This record gives sequence, structure tokens and C-alpha cells, in this order.
Amino acid sequence: MCGIVGYCGEKNAAGILVEGLKRLEYRGYDSSGISVGFNNKLTVIKKKGKISNLQAAVPKDLPGTYGIGHTRWATHGEVNDLNAHPHSDSSGKISIVHNGIIENYIALRKKLTAEGVEFITETDSEVIPHLISKFYDGDLEKAVKECLKHLKGTYGIVAVHADEPCRMVGARNGSPLVLGIGEGEMFLASDVTAMMAYTKQVVYMEDGDVVVVDKTSFRTTDIRDNERDKQISTVGWDIGEMEKDGFPTFMEKEIFEQPQSILRGMKGRLDIDQGTAKLGGLNMTNRELRMVNRVIILAAGTSSYAAMTCAYLLEKIARIPANAELSSEIRYKNPIVDPGTLYFVVSQSGETADTLYAMRELQRKGAKVLGICNVVGSTIPRESDGGVYIHSGPEIAVASTKAFTSQLTAMYLFSLIMARMRDMSMIDGKKIVEAMAKLPDDIETVLKLNSHIKDIADKYADCHSFFFLGRGLTYPIALEGALKLKEISYIHAEGYTAGELKHGPIALINEVTPSVFLVPDDSLREKIISNMKEVKARKGPIIAVAVEGDKEVEDIADDVIFVPKVHEVMYPFVMVVPLQMYAYHTAVKLGRNVDQPRNLAKSVTGARMPASA
Ligand code: AGP
Repeated sequence: MCGIVGYCGEKNAAGILVEGLKRLEYRGYDSSGISVGFNNKLTVIKKKGKISNLQAAVPKDLPGTYGIGHTRWATHGEVNDLNAHPHSDSSGKISIVHNGIIENYIALRKKLTAEGVEFITETDSEVIPHLISKFYDGDLEKAVKECLKHLKGTYGIVAVHADEPCRMVGARNGSPLVLGIGEGEMFLASDVTAMMAYTKQVVYMEDGDVVVVDKTSFRTTDIRDNERDKQISTVGWDIGEMEKDGFPTFMEKEIFEQPQSILRGMKGRLDIDQGTAKLGGLNMTNRELRMVNRVIILAAGTSSYAAMTCAYLLEKIARIPANAELSSEIRYKNPIVDPGTLYFVVSQSGETADTLYAMRELQRKGAKVLGICNVVGSTIPRESDGGVYIHSGPEIAVASTKAFTSQLTAMYLFSLIMARMRDMSMIDGKKIVEAMAKLPDDIETVLKLNSHIKDIADKYADCHSFFFLGRGLTYPIALEGALKLKEISYIHAEGYTAGELKHGPIALINEVTPSVFLVPDDSLREKIISNMKEVKARKGPIIAVAVEGDKEVEDIADDVIFVPKVHEVMYPFVMVVPLQMYAYHTAVKLGRNVDQPRNLAKSVTGARMPASA
């Protein structure tokens, strides 16, 4: 989604802003722009398309040591230079960048137009600089606060004024905003990645915060001037983790990082002696955990498939009724909150609007909601009642890969804790601990299949439609495999439980519609093999992901990807990685933009309901 970066300091602002915007590219955008202040004048440059277009339009020697920049993902008004941010007031003295949606912009626009203001864009955001201008009497902070009182909706905003050099005013309500504290320089951005090259000292803004920043200091208040205390945090990862490290794309790099990211997520959390795990952030006593009689896990997209896998696992090993629900559904469904139910929200970004608002809705009804997130300091971990960081490290590619296996890791640990508190013996617990500890090596083995998987992907890259089929624990993995292929190759793919095939979808099987079957060595293996035969009988090509040495599957399938034999509940890990690689190679073969697929954004923050609603 849209990205914000603001800078004030001693250096050339234009260069820093464009570089910061490039770091935000991964969020998804369709245009970008900057506004730089110098000699009581703001220079605004905006361009449709890639940031390279903007970069080409910005003069190398553009003077100015403060300014703001933005990557836009269009919501109101078509994608063109004019609708890109920053937006200005009629005098050109005020520039703003805005993430979020101003819900009452039509009424505000009408009112301002009647007062003589001329609007030049189709955006909701343009009302902001005009409102600030209306209230401006020499104090930008005061004018921004007055403006905010008239806005309904969500925002992360940064504003600058030509007559107040090296000063930025930021505000947050529903869209992330982070302050970066450097040596004689300050940053405001929607995401720490924009400023990581300069500082790791950050302050996360909260809803209702207004922050006023100059080169060396900042002050945070609410809209009515009441001081708000802030804590400075240190970002726990390095800028190097945001580089491609010799890989052609971030997605491939992130797929190959999984042995390390899974290991990080388990570090210090496995208890080998007791055959269980430890998760410090749950904020729950053992007694409280034992009282839980149901678990509901909410998430969107890939995170929802991690949630679904873990709901299966919880029922299987801990014998607790568990369900995964889509946050976009729960959010509008008036959920029934039961006191014995423990709720989780799973989100890589920690900012997904549907998940965040679903969480708030549940909390409003008295639920205890724990978060499983990757981005430290993001909104969900800050507002949840406890939870677990997955420690995946920054995930830049829009298509989630390593965060998925890290989400599984965190929730497997939780499931193990719950299982050991109930039915599971120490011996069985130890088997799971050992199997988890071995996962990084198992994933390394799978990664060695890269060129074999590439060959298979190349062979079927011209097909227009795919099925992905699994059962039980690998059913959500089939859904994830289909989503991965769709997102980055734009090939139609459907994930199904293999048992459902004969209830309708089998009508679509023909010689040119491949089915990818997941065949773990578990109690459902025979069932899946029958489903493979149903497809074979209808001449459907079969790609199987099976366990090393499975001759029967090899005989039926046209192509096989053999994964190592693992503990029966660990197949989701070793089977999802080949599917990620499969989607990746197909997309590369078709010449797609793997890291930034069309129409998608890394973090879907198109929020419509403010925190206070
Ligand atoms: C994953 O490949 C997707 N791009 C998308 O489905 C994503 O998982 C979803 O939007 C949820 O994001 P979150 O984990 O940041 O909440």
C-alpha cells in the first residue's frame, strides 16, 4: 500500500527521500512524488509509474534539506502524475503526504469549494492541505491539529510548510507512522525500512498522536495538545537483510532463507527435556491456558492458511476445538465472543486492516486476542493482549514465503504447549520437539531440489489452469500453493481438499489441466492416492509432492518432487517450500515481476474504520 517518508536534517533531502521511497517499493504502488523545501519555497515533483521515473525527473542538484515523499496505491482517482502525492494548498506553501482514506472528503471538498478553493486532483487527500491552509496563521502544528478535527477516516500524514524550514508535522490515526532519530537528522515514515540506512532508533506513533519534528528534537501530543510520552526502540535487524544478497529477486532469497528463519523462530523456545515449548509473550498462566476450551485464529491470505494448518494441528495433537476464520468475514459478522475461547490474529505485517479491525471488534466484545506477527512495533502486536513474534526478518517480496513457515513454527510451538498440558505424553512431545529441531535441515534438503522443480515448472508453464490438492494438514498447504501460483504467475489455480474433487471440480479435469497432489506419508496417504487415480482416469496430468521412496506415487504421477520423510505433522513445512519454488519458477518463466506482482500490495491497509469508531 502507500508509503510515506519525510526527512529533515543537514543532507540533501531529495536523494534521501527518493532512496527511502525505493525501500518502500515492496509495499506496492503506482506513482510517487516528493516535495522539498528550500529558501521559503517547496518544489513538488510527481510521476506516474516506477520510482525510476521520479528519479529521472528530480534534478541531481535540487537544493533543500527537508521534505516529504510518497508512493501512492490509487484508491480515489486514476493513476496519473497529478493524483500522486504530495498534495499542496493553492499557495504552494504547504505540502502533505497521506496514507489512509478520508471518508468525509466529499463534504469537505464541497465546503472548501464554496469558500473559493480550487481543487486540482480527484483524490480524497487533497482536502488536507487546503484545510491546513485555511487554519494556518504562522504555526503549522496548530493548523494541522485544527485540520485533523475535521477529518473522518484513517490517516498517516506528514505536512511541511515553506515558511517553517526543517520542520515536519506528522499525525496518525489508523495508518502506521514511525519517527526515526538520527544524528542531527530526523525521519518520519510509514515503515522503518525507509530509514534503516540512517538510523535504528525509532519511535512508533500510536493512533491519536501528533508529532512535531525538527533536526534534533521531537514532541508528541494528542490533537488537543496533551503531551504523550513515547519510548525509543531499537530496530532489531540490519539493513543488509533488506538487500537481495546476490539473488535475482527478494522472493527467491526469502525462500532460501527459510532454514535460518525457522531456526530463529524456535531459538530458545523448544524444551527438549520436557518435550514441550516456551512462549514468553502469551501473558497467560498455565492455569489460564488449561481453561481454554476453544481456539479461533483469524487472518487473511497466506496467513489464513498458516492459521488453518494450525487449527488442524491443535485439534489433532491438543484435542482442542479450533477454527481458522478469515478476518474480512469476522470483521463484519458481529462475532459471538465466548469467555472460554482464546483468539489469535496472525499477520506478517501486523498492519492488515481486516485483521486489525477484526481484532478490535473481538476485544470490544471482551475477547482476549493474542497476535502472531513479524513486524516488530506494528499495530497488531501493540494492541493485542499478548502474543509471539515470529522473527522471520524483513519480508520484502509481496508474495509471502518465509513468514508463512515462521508463522507455522510459532503456532506449532503453541500447539505443542497446549498438547503437553492435556493428552500428549512426554515421549510423543519429545518426538515433536526433535522433529521441529530437525526442520532447518529438512528444508535445506528440499531447497536442493531447486533445478528439478524449475524443470517441472517450465514444462507446465503454458497451462492455463491448475488444481492443488491435499487432505488434512496439507489441505491448507494446497490452498497456499494455489494462491502462490495465482499471485505471481497470474495463472488460474484452485486449491481443494482432494476429497472434494469428485463433488464437482473433477468436471474441469482434462489433458491440459495439471493437478498438484500433496501426498505425505500419513494416515490419509491411501485416500489421496485414490484421488490421484480419479484424476489419472480422466487423463489429467499429475505433479505429485511425495515422500522419498514412494514408488506407488511415482508410478501414477507424471512428475514427482520427493521430499524427505519427516514426523507426520511436519509435512506442511517440507511440502509448502516446493510449492513456493514451483510458483517462483513458473512466474520467472513467464517473465512476471516476481517481487511486485500486478494489483497487489505487501500490506493491505485500505482501512475504513478508525480506531475510535
Ligand atoms: C501473501 O503472499 C499475500 N500477498 C497476502 O495474501 C497476505 O498474506 C495477506 O494480505 C495477509 O497479510 P499479513 O500477513 O501481513 O496480514
